[in-house]
Amino acid sequence: MNRKEIEMELMKHDSTVLSFPNRGEWGNSQYRGNCSGWVHAFLIWKYRVEKMAELFSGSGTGYDVCKDMGISYVGADLNPNPVRPGILNVNAITDEVPEAFMDADMLFMHPPYSNICNISWAGKNYSDPTGELRKADLGNMDWDQFMSTLNAIVMKYYSAMMNGGKMSILMGDVRRKPIGFKSMFADIVKPGQLEQVIIKLQHNTVSGRENISYGSRNFVPIEHEYLMVLKKIAPYLIDFSLPTKHEIDIRDSKSATWRDVVYAVMQKIGHDAPLEEIYSEIEGHKKCETNSEWKAKVRQILQQSDKFVNVSYGVWALAKVA
Ligand SMILES: C[S@@+](CC[C@H](N)C(=O)[O-])C[C@H]1O[C@@H](n2cnc3c(N)ncnc32)[C@H](O)[C@@H]1O
Repeated sequence: MNRKEIEMELMKHDSTVLSFPNRGEWGNSQYRGNCSGWVHAFLIWKYRVEKMAELFSGSGTGYDVCKDMGISYVGADLNPNPVRPGILNVNAITDEVPEAFMDADMLFMHPPYSNICNISWAGKNYSDPTGELRKADLGNMDWDQFMSTLNAIVMKYYSAMMNGGKMSILMGDVRRKPIGFKSMFADIVKPGQLEQVIIKLQHNTVSGRENISYGSRNFVPIEHEYLMVLKKIAPYLIDFSLPTKHEIDIRDSKSATWRDVVYAVMQKIGHDAPLEEIYSEIEGHKKCETNSEWKAKVRQILQQSDKFVNVSYGVWALAKVA
């Protein structure tokens, strides 16, 4: 396709929801984890990209799109035998960002999705005789290791970007037993200025292909990915937001009210409880430090809230759900 034909099609998709049922002829649809070339094309068109750099360039989708759209391209991948002339052999974990990446006005990444999806590349899509590449393949890492490694890579590549340059990352959510639900969008570091979050619909999903109905299950089938676009807005500034998980005992929390604490205690106890048992769950916690009459406060909550019922003298239970 030439640039004009590509843009004619893209004009029909000028939205924060991208849906391309056909991935296009770019790259290799047989390459594990390949993505639609329409994603690259959309970015090039929308952000008037003159040079695209691509980390995790895989089967050459980005190279092929850039060629059709007549812009410069440089790619990097762990594959020691790159599939296109413009792709460099790079281990993104240990190697420095290639110099050719630094003057790109768009840096695109479509990273692996950890080992949860059971898709890895080294030794499968390309040979790995010594086993060294497997260790560097992000597709072999468990979620926590994967996210911290990917976040370090994102920050390294952001630091090397030119001022005014943009970074776009295509990523998804996954749900697999026994790990459960994991969201790359929730866990990824977000450097610079967040320009846009685009939803890319996934076609050919297992549920769609096999016409599986998940109606009776208590989860929603995943049928989209995210395309996050970030911009570097100052040459010196490395600003980023990095999600962190915090844990606090509700009995030590400042934001929880006495009603919340007593409710949590009664759920934890799980049976009719005398006042002494309720007090003993709370005693010694920070919540008591700010109220010397805390036992009276507990009794007041038990008496006043509809969440609790008095079973017998000094014995309390959770009220039944109405
Ligand atoms: C999801 S695929 C990208 C597919 C690509 N978008 C396409 O359409 O073909 C992820 C790529 O990341 C590469 N990769 C995994 N670990 C890497 C690492 N440490 N350094 C560089 N590339 C890595 C894999 O070789 C694979 O090609």
